[in-house]
Amino acid sequence: MLDKTKRGWWESAVFYQIYPKSFQDTDGDGIGDLKGIISHLDYLEELGIDGIWLSPVCQSPQRDNGYDISDYQAIYPVFGTMEDMEELIREADKRNITIIMDLVLNHCSDQHIWFKEALKSRDNPYHDYFVWRDGTPDELPNDMKATFGGSAWTWVPHLGQYYFHQFAIEQPDLNWENPQLRRELYDMIRFWVKKGIGGFRLDVIDQIAKEPDHYITSNGPRLHEFLRELSQEAFCEEGLVTVGEAWGANVERAKLYSAPDCSELSMVFQFQHMQLDQQPGGDKWDLADLSLVKLKKVFEHWQQGLHGVGWNSLFLNNHDLPRIVSRWGNDKEYRVESAKMLGTLLHGMEGTPYIYQGEEIGMTNIRLPIQGYVDVEILNMYEDRLSKGYPLDEIMASIHAKGRDNARTPMQWSDAPNAGFTTGAPWLTVNPNYKQINVKAALEDPNSIFYYYKKLVALRKEHEVFRTGNFTLYKADDPNHFCYIRETESERLLVTCNFTDQELKLALPTNGEVLICNYDYPLKDTLRPYEAWMMLQKK
Ligand code: GLC
Repeated sequence: MLDKTKRGWWESAVFYQIYPKSFQDTDGDGIGDLKGIISHLDYLEELGIDGIWLSPVCQSPQRDNGYDISDYQAIYPVFGTMEDMEELIREADKRNITIIMDLVLNHCSDQHIWFKEALKSRDNPYHDYFVWRDGTPDELPNDMKATFGGSAWTWVPHLGQYYFHQFAIEQPDLNWENPQLRRELYDMIRFWVKKGIGGFRLDVIDQIAKEPDHYITSNGPRLHEFLRELSQEAFCEEGLVTVGEAWGANVERAKLYSAPDCSELSMVFQFQHMQLDQQPGGDKWDLADLSLVKLKKVFEHWQQGLHGVGWNSLFLNNHDLPRIVSRWGNDKEYRVESAKMLGTLLHGMEGTPYIYQGEEIGMTNIRLPIQGYVDVEILNMYEDRLSKGYPLDEIMASIHAKGRDNARTPMQWSDAPNAGFTTGAPWLTVNPNYKQINVKAALEDPNSIFYYYKKLVALRKEHEVFRTGNFTLYKADDPNHFCYIRETESERLLVTCNFTDQELKLALPTNGEVLICNYDYPLKDTLRPYEAWMMLQKK
């Protein structure tokens, strides 16, 4: 069992991400809740995970599903009460599962009392908690754009000022230059630590040190200074795990974020490997095929770059990404094989793996008409591209491939109505494939993706090479086959993955212990469609 009071325990751990709105509803309102999470802790214990990253559960008008917090120290009533949260922490703890909360510190909701006060007057004490610039209605401070479309500046007539928001209009950016604001944030974090929270995932943390006058959003000059202060003031408990979401990180910065002395955070959660299937210079909606050769090089760069000097998160899914089996696997004929292959690829690497709810049963993307979508990012992009004259079928193809609601459809528990997620009307359409793809069916099938993931999770704890082995990429230029080696002084782990639906003929090693394989057993001269395995050699 991991000793979670010690720094570094997360290097042998596997985390599971829960998107509360879509996990399990217990009161029939069609929206998941904390009691629903508690009801499935035994299931998560069975999978073997060590911690849960809980997407935001704090009070929020839900413009961005909780990433717009209006009270950091209250629970969103639709999810439950503070007592439910305390019970979740306790019940998880009984199963040795740590709860990691989502901390949204770059911005809050426009319904937060701080922003309501800030709007009252320029000399209100809370005014400086936000980022303002003087102007006139027709003259914006500059042409910066918000991630969810439109300008990053919103005009407030009675103040004669604009406020800055990197995301939706309802998510005003916090001004980290203000020391009083920073102190309030640290107090709030201590409040949750006292409640028994074991760590935090820090939302878009690379964007807190913005300098809009210089067009700087991520990686601002004061970023690492702020992170060190945050760490000293609020993260001093030895075993606390802190995970920094950083879309803009490169390896050099990641070394700072995740330096082994924990002067900033425990690990970085960066996205370079998830941004390859888009056109150069475009954004995620500008679709392009994945080049496996490029993907291999990015993984190699990060695996080698952080080895011994930093710590990475390993993931292919989360609540902002489409389902990986639909994205890089084959969600039809080879759904099971390709889902297992992608899991094998990731779980052999150095870093802390994250499983996103439903990944462990191979949940897939969904295709809805535009009226079926809820996500602010999808809807804003749709309007924006329509007004710019993009063809409708191209816009819908982008949404079907990359829209965030793909990951947010309700968890598929069984073949009961609404997949057993709710007895009411679900807030987002349940994927119609729930009759075949669901937890109940997975638990009844010894060959299911679930049991394969359970084995992947267990392997990480059994062999030291998963944690400390160095990484060598094999056949870097092969466009179909992803193969790498992890090595310590005493062990060598070979991980091999066929990324295609074709058989690949090649010479394969046979001298070792097969730890896991997504077919009955490996062959020595062929990789079958989406075949993957791990082999351990003792030196
Ligand atoms: C992060 C979250 C995403 C959210 C955004 C703004 O990227 O993961 O869901 O919309 O930050 O808070």
